[in-house]
Amino acid sequence: MNLSDGNRYVLTECSIATMVYERKDSGLIEDGALVVEGNKIAWVGEKKHLPDHYLNYTQSKLNNRLITPGLIDCHTHIVFGGNRSKEFDMRLNGKSYQEIAASGGGIASTVKATRASSEEELINSSLIRLDDMISKGVTTIEIKSGYGLDINTECMMLRVAKKLESLRPIRIKKSFLGSHAIPPEYKDDSTKYIYEVCIPALKKAFNEGLVDAVDGFCETVALSVEQMELVFKVAQELDLPVKLHAEQLSHLGGTKLASRYNALSVDHLEYANEDDVKSMANSGSVAVVLPGAFYTLKEKQKPPIESFRKHKVPIAVATDCNPGSSPMTSLLLAMNMACTFFNLTPQETMEGVTRIAAKALGEKKIGIISEGMIADLSIWDVNHPSEMSYRIGFNSLYKRIFGGQM
Ligand code: NIG
Ligand code: FE
Repeated sequence: MNLSDGNRYVLTECSIATMVYERKDSGLIEDGALVVEGNKIAWVGEKKHLPDHYLNYTQSKLNNRLITPGLIDCHTHIVFGGNRSKEFDMRLNGKSYQEIAASGGGIASTVKATRASSEEELINSSLIRLDDMISKGVTTIEIKSGYGLDINTECMMLRVAKKLESLRPIRIKKSFLGSHAIPPEYKDDSTKYIYEVCIPALKKAFNEGLVDAVDGFCETVALSVEQMELVFKVAQELDLPVKLHAEQLSHLGGTKLASRYNALSVDHLEYANEDDVKSMANSGSVAVVLPGAFYTLKEKQKPPIESFRKHKVPIAVATDCNPGSSPMTSLLLAMNMACTFFNLTPQETMEGVTRIAAKALGEKKIGIISEGMIADLSIWDVNHPSEMSYRIGFNSLYKRIFGGQM
């Protein structure tokens, strides 16, 4: 693209899924035009209404391709050492995720591999995953710590997440997840871990500007509701938003705790009940569904999608990319799985990786296509937004625009 007249251009011969809430059918504009100036969207609408003064901007004709907001993966753990293919094998030989965790595998085995990695090794292995995500139209991702579980490694993981943002054209939101599990050295006194490691690690990472939100894993194999609240109290003192992995494998009550702390999102939710969903509706929290983990763990219990709809809890979809329960980098595949496993409609799924995923991250300038928003855009070789969820494992990305740059 010739940007000799500064970064300003018009995209034409395209349809545009604006994802603007009030409009039906993904806010679709047919025969649209979209003007980018600098890193922002300056104008969007039907081509026939394009104001004359934009006609002398460089024009890029898209041959009837579809423009969507750049996709947003609002729940990932892409920074980690090693991999857990052996556990995949073990599960296929009859062991459950919980049994593997109880015998020293699971999160603890990735903790071991992550602690043994250098910062450079973590950057290089994460870049492979990140590049795959970028190649599939993702322009913003959230990355969690949580495989260090000691002060230095938790901070190192978040430093790596920050560094990745400077190495690639991508927006990265960093979540502290020192409350992911209790490391082996504290297994006989798990609450001591919260006071001696988790809270100091959070404060250190916060002081280094490495934390956008505080996450946790409330589960029998991880932290109790009471332990999680100790961490959320510190988040509140630091004025950081919270989110939580809750009701994934059993019903422990994390959702109501997260709602009391006005969580940005509550994630997984397979075992959540209607009361939990009502609490989320009151707190305005997003439900993040993670079909990759559901699939990998061969879970039978589905998240209460009907209840989310009934109580108007917005639903986001993410990969949960992690070495144990969801070794998946494709948000497009997650979209397809969300439709097939959870009966989300293609329209809901598109919202779940754009406008609602932005809400789950507390971001107001991305996720929809309208005047003044950041020009993070993906252009697809499809005719209609439904095709994005309909295909299985096919990458129809044509081009990706990040902050106005092609
Ligand atoms: O989101 N649920 C907790 N954490 C991850 C899995 C972590 C792991 O097994 O390494 C998840 O599914
Ligand atoms: Fe997760």
